[in-house]
Amino acid sequence: MVAKPHGGKLVNCVVRGRRRLRLLEEAGELPRVELSQEEAADVENLAYGVYSPLEGFMASEELESTLADMRLPSDVPWTIPILLDVDESTVEELREGDYIALCAGKPIALMRVEEVYKHSKEDIALRVYRTSSLEHPGVARVMQMRDFLLAGRVELISDPPNPYERYTLRPAETRVLFRERGWRTIAGFQTRNAPHLGHEWIQKTALAFVDGVFINPVIGRKKRGDFRDEVILAAYSKLIEHYYNPNTVVLSILRYEMKYAGPREAVHHAIMRKNFGCTHFIVGRDHAGVAGFYKPYEAQEIFKEFPDLGITPLFFREFFYCRRCGGIANEKTCPHPEEERLRFSGTMIRKIIEGGERPPEYVMRPEVADTILSFKEPFVGG
Ligand code: ADX
Repeated sequence: MVAKPHGGKLVNCVVRGRRRLRLLEEAGELPRVELSQEEAADVENLAYGVYSPLEGFMASEELESTLADMRLPSDVPWTIPILLDVDESTVEELREGDYIALCAGKPIALMRVEEVYKHSKEDIALRVYRTSSLEHPGVARVMQMRDFLLAGRVELISDPPNPYERYTLRPAETRVLFRERGWRTIAGFQTRNAPHLGHEWIQKTALAFVDGVFINPVIGRKKRGDFRDEVILAAYSKLIEHYYNPNTVVLSILRYEMKYAGPREAVHHAIMRKNFGCTHFIVGRDHAGVAGFYKPYEAQEIFKEFPDLGITPLFFREFFYCRRCGGIANEKTCPHPEEERLRFSGTMIRKIIEGGERPPEYVMRPEVADTILSFKEPFVGG
């Protein structure tokens, strides 16, 4: 049985048919707000129910309860603000109740402006990211936000451009697909990386218990040194082709900007996968973490605060390669000393690949490594 959508109902703010044609025409006459790619992805996620039960960008009351209680005013768990920021000149022309056209080049959605308000970026940084350090890529992004926020329900009239359409399934589609496959339990897997053996092992260990795994890499703006989107997709396609049972895996992307918000983002990641229909969600070591800002298992501990989340987290201790075990192990399975253990480090993998070499086979499948090496620039540049 696939999971019930978060908040009870899968949101659908996608306008179709004649009404869509009428709104497309009307959009041409409305004040325009140009969206970044990431904001356009938020609009898409709102409209297709990835962020259910949200139907639009947050109003001040929703933002405040998200920050203070990690819940929406309706008491439904919610940990990450979904905001649309604009500058003063945009706000000067607007009144609450006005309709605006949200544009990614062309108008993609209409929004009735329900509230215009100011926010404290410092406050968001401290409460969501638990730091105000500009070294934190998520905080740096918050500090760049413009001073005003617009709240309102979106109505999608045109999908934003998507170079990865063939890898994209909407929540309504994954729900049908999981049912068709007869899966009763599905573990969602969040990732921003090309797969190393640790990732593969977590997924396959979860598969010992659940019917299927939903690999859902995040596509969108990432920090310098992370893998590029096309590399992640090519690498996963190769891994699945050579090492997975096609009957127990679905690969589909999520267009979403990583926040690197550790614990709070882990809960948000779980909520999104619940909306795709997952019954379980994998949380390993330092989930959605960055450069030592969070403790290795902090993103697991936060789930204690949400007994009503409606998706079961599956926690894993760090997997590593143990020379004595002769395979992948973790502290629950392996008694050997630290010298025998080789840990999967993103920095180490990047260094080897940047040197034009294949990482060793206990770190990465050779087919995956060769796929990554076939790209001239596998990493996000500065
Ligand atoms: S994340 O930012 O999306 O969390 P990444 O793509 O590296 O980064 O991780 C995806 C998932 O795999 C997360 O749940 C993370 O905790 C987990 N993970 C990554 N590497 C390991 C490892 N060596 N051992 C256990 N879990 C891991």
